[in-house]
Amino acid sequence: MEQNYTERDIREILITEEEIQAKVKEVAAQISKDYAGKDLVAICILRGCCIFFSDLMRNVTIPVDMEFMATSSYGNGAQSTGNVSILYDIQTDIKGKSVLIVEDIIDTGITLRQLKKLLSGREPESIDICVLLDKVDRRVTPVDVKYTLFKIPNEFVVGYGLDYAEKYRNYRQIGVLKPEIYE
Ligand code: PRP
Repeated sequence: MEQNYTERDIREILITEEEIQAKVKEVAAQISKDYAGKDLVAICILRGCCIFFSDLMRNVTIPVDMEFMATSSYGNGAQSTGNVSILYDIQTDIKGKSVLIVEDIIDTGITLRQLKKLLSGREPESIDICVLLDKVDRRVTPVDVKYTLFKIPNEFVVGYGLDYAEKYRNYRQIGVLKPEIYE
């Protein structure tokens, strides 16, 4: 069978589709339990998080407002610039609500630290973070993450929403990109 473009450019599969889906269901069940009776607003940080967010929300069994926010820190490169700008803001007033920021990946921690600070200023009742992937070794600023699905090594990963130069987001698994693709 002919290889598709993702299979050709990926060095190894780090997390399989089955592993992702099992963990998504487990964390969604925990979120449903932890926020039962609360006014929950889940915020998807575009664009990397779109696929994870969709799967996670589909498995949450309590009422939840789904909101979207777009930030930019990486551009098309592989390194964080350290500057986070808001490209698109949420439309809901989160005052007095339980906010769950959902991100695809935490790397240096700069994006989530700045986002949490910004959203805290809008006086939610609580504000927590859920990340699909955590590159623990890369952290430069401490961030309190409530739900982490997978801790990963410092490799350039793509798939399940994560891109390199906007490609590979539609790959169903999480894989390590061949270095020759981005070097
Ligand atoms: C990624 C990710 C976080 C940020 C994490 O976004 O979604 O927002 O980088 O890095 P940090 O912990 O070092 O701040 P990216 O800029 O790649 O945008 P995208 O989600 O649209 O692909």
